[in-house]
Amino acid sequence: MTATPDPLHRAAFPADFTFGVATSSFQIEGATNADGRGVSIWDTFCREPGRIHDGSTGDVACDHYHRWPEDLNLMRDLGVDAYRFSVAWPRIQADGRGPANTKGLDFYDRLVDGLLERGLQPHMTLYHWDLPQALQDIGGWTNRDVALRFAEYARIVAERLGGRVRSIATLNEPWCSSILSYQIGEHAPGLRDRRAAVAAAHGLLLGHGLAMREMRALTLDADLGIVLNLNPAYPASDRPEDVAAARFVDGTFNRWFLDPILRAQYPQDIVDAYGADAPDVHSGDLDIIAAPIDFMGVNYYSRSVSSADGAIRPSTSSYTDMNWEVYPQGLTDLLVRLHHDYPNLPPIMITENGAAYPDADGPDEHGIVHDPERVQYFQQHLGATLNAIDAGVRVTGYFAWSFMDNFEWAYGYKKRFGLFYVNYGNQMRHWKDSARWYQTFLNAAPAAH
Ligand code: NOJ
Repeated sequence: MTATPDPLHRAAFPADFTFGVATSSFQIEGATNADGRGVSIWDTFCREPGRIHDGSTGDVACDHYHRWPEDLNLMRDLGVDAYRFSVAWPRIQADGRGPANTKGLDFYDRLVDGLLERGLQPHMTLYHWDLPQALQDIGGWTNRDVALRFAEYARIVAERLGGRVRSIATLNEPWCSSILSYQIGEHAPGLRDRRAAVAAAHGLLLGHGLAMREMRALTLDADLGIVLNLNPAYPASDRPEDVAAARFVDGTFNRWFLDPILRAQYPQDIVDAYGADAPDVHSGDLDIIAAPIDFMGVNYYSRSVSSADGAIRPSTSSYTDMNWEVYPQGLTDLLVRLHHDYPNLPPIMITENGAAYPDADGPDEHGIVHDPERVQYFQQHLGATLNAIDAGVRVTGYFAWSFMDNFEWAYGYKKRFGLFYVNYGNQMRHWKDSARWYQTFLNAAPAAH
């Protein structure tokens, strides 16, 4: 008797669907002083007492700057098609302006070649939050000049690497690098100023649009787009107050970024709510921001449930180590909603999805980490992706967050999202069951009918 095959394997997805893993520069590279790299806002932030829960920094992180060949070998062994990484702007321009630092570009050049040699597609993100400190010193993203500097940086990187990468995303999660960073104060630069946050969001979107324009002029084969963190917002009940609360969350979190990019306008209900804090939009800005994109990157982790009295935590749900509700249906709902609400929507890539669990037991005697909850999380969310595809949504790829455990921003190294476990004492990487599961999923033969 043969065992029932796992119903979820890659053959259930379209043949050209891309499966990958993702990371970002500051979270894994370390080597913050190597080869002319300048100081980023995260280097500064980590040195401010109380900002990072475990008091850690990105100085060493996973030492990927030196260990990248070994890491790429693991990706090849895992059997993924693709790797999504980000470029550290301060490695390319230490102060965020002026001529390129060749040694910084050389690192990513080696990385891209290393991926191609191993048959892995490079997917590159230009800004995953490590802004050169010198640009923060002039106001960061609230200063329109920074958007211009970003476009220049995008051109430099795209000229050197754009011919060999499959996709280029301008920004990762601009909600985080504006609202979470300038209003909520949880991320660098750690401000608590709504007006500055809304200005920063506009500066980021403008930078995205200007960078798109620069890169389009290079006529690259790479797909160009942006990555948003989208958080489907559900009302706690049908009460009009709860519905309004959810709509506000949806507006500030999702529509504030989707609408300018895909409709060339800010959502009026949120412009009204922001009042005097609404952004100073110059004529022509929205046309720049709404430049056509080849893909929309979606990062999905959880949903929110809102009532007039604030956020609700459904008590029957399970939660990850981040205290985020596990809600796979939210991914299907989100993808279907994007498809219906935005006629200009390009194909979607799920550029991040994953879960932190403590992995508290560490590796067993065979060096393997057992993480059944993470396996289940991936299975459920890949299933949710498949349901959206079946409903007619164009989704072309899925990247697990993250390739390996890494620096989880304000949480430091205590939150582990990796498919591979990192022992920060000796930098050993260990397979988790989730990595084994992904490997099997990727290699599994289609079920016999
Ligand atoms: C989204 C961010 O892009 C990534 O940097 C972060 O580690 C994950 N979410 C998990 O919080």
